[in-house]
Amino acid sequence: MDSSTLLERRVRVLGRHSPLFYDRPLEIVRGEGVWLWDAQGERYLDAYNNVPHVGHCHPRVVEALTRQARTLNTHTRYLHETVVRYAERLLATFNASLGNVLFCCTGTEANELALRIARECTNAQGIIATDFAYHGNSAAVAQISSVFTPPERRGRFVRTIPVIDPYRERRGRDDETLGAAYASEVARAIEAFHRDGVRVAGILLCTALSSEGLPQVPQGYFPRIAKLVRDAGGLFIADEVQAGFGRFGSHMWGHQLHGATPDIVTLGKPMGNGHPLAGVVARADLVEAFTSENMYFNTFGGNPVSASVGLAVLDVLRDEGLLENARRVGDYVIAGLRRLQDKHALIGDVRGRGLFFAVEIVSERTAKTADAAVTKRIVNGMRERGVLLSRIGPHDNILKIRPPMTFSTENADLLLGTLDRVLTDL
Ligand SMILES: Cc1ncc(COP(=O)(O)O)c(C=O)c1O
Repeated sequence: MDSSTLLERRVRVLGRHSPLFYDRPLEIVRGEGVWLWDAQGERYLDAYNNVPHVGHCHPRVVEALTRQARTLNTHTRYLHETVVRYAERLLATFNASLGNVLFCCTGTEANELALRIARECTNAQGIIATDFAYHGNSAAVAQISSVFTPPERRGRFVRTIPVIDPYRERRGRDDETLGAAYASEVARAIEAFHRDGVRVAGILLCTALSSEGLPQVPQGYFPRIAKLVRDAGGLFIADEVQAGFGRFGSHMWGHQLHGATPDIVTLGKPMGNGHPLAGVVARADLVEAFTSENMYFNTFGGNPVSASVGLAVLDVLRDEGLLENARRVGDYVIAGLRRLQDKHALIGDVRGRGLFFAVEIVSERTAKTADAAVTKRIVNGMRERGVLLSRIGPHDNILKIRPPMTFSTENADLLLGTLDRVLTDL
């Protein structure tokens, strides 16, 4: 059966609006490491997916999953050594002030729980998010996922701050001055809440500002806004669903890179390498206060199979030196992207860290005019030539490159060579 028939069947049962990548959607049938194969046997380099964090179908993860699934799978209301060991191993990667973890199954659930903890523990309701954020799909989390939820549907307990855009807005300012200017937007949001009689429960931010376009965050910005929110009685909630588990190479968590320890951290996507595993890591006093009033239980969250998978992911990250790999290959990719920027006027800006890159496509370099149409053509052109990536940002003009952590310099050469050809052929 060819993929067009499958597409028709899919539309019939999943509806017209179930999202698919690319003008010619891909039917992927197999994955291994950084490679994916479609139903026609074509091979693709995966330069996009962060869920298969240690590589598609990593044998150690698959083995851990199947071994535990053959032995036992229950839930967290029984004692199980693997669940406790996983919690210990995970918490050891955080600042000591973050002492407890609650397990769940998706990033949405993690953020939903984080909002509940923050609101309950501060006895306040107001949440600050950016105006181009994605944090998930539950009712409360959709209200702070401004990328899909217009202001009139966010309710009076959500206020947004503008996406920071140092590429366009630096205008000669150093990090200190620029960070202070951006932080003043948080102060403004707090004042607006107070004018409305709403007290501040917290700020929830993706530490990569990924949907926002992976801007280069001014040094000191995160600590500065965390302080503003705490001074107003709120908590700093770091969404590590995209930035976490060593994506930036230099640190295990995005907030560590930014030098700001959160009160609550949410985890997801890469945590289970494709198995639905997510979690909330928080100050033990917050977890104590929240769970003493609210019995928190999640049937599937952190079960023995999930914990075995989570442990295997941590083991592979350590044993294969994947943070170091992200640093080394990441620097190589950035250098290659900068060479492409010298050659192709369409590339307005190149930024990134570890294995997370953003390439701004502009129609005019001086004016920095975003070119969404060309960006879309590039993404589709790359797909046609066997390299998968996507696009992000408020203007839909930023190539998003975020491969599995096992990405090598040879993979990088293929990515860069293909991008060079696609840009040349536009
Ligand atoms: C930063 C961030 N937070 C939360 C989520 C929601 O995670 P999930 O789709 O597992 O509910 C996403 C998903 O794209 C995300 O990118």
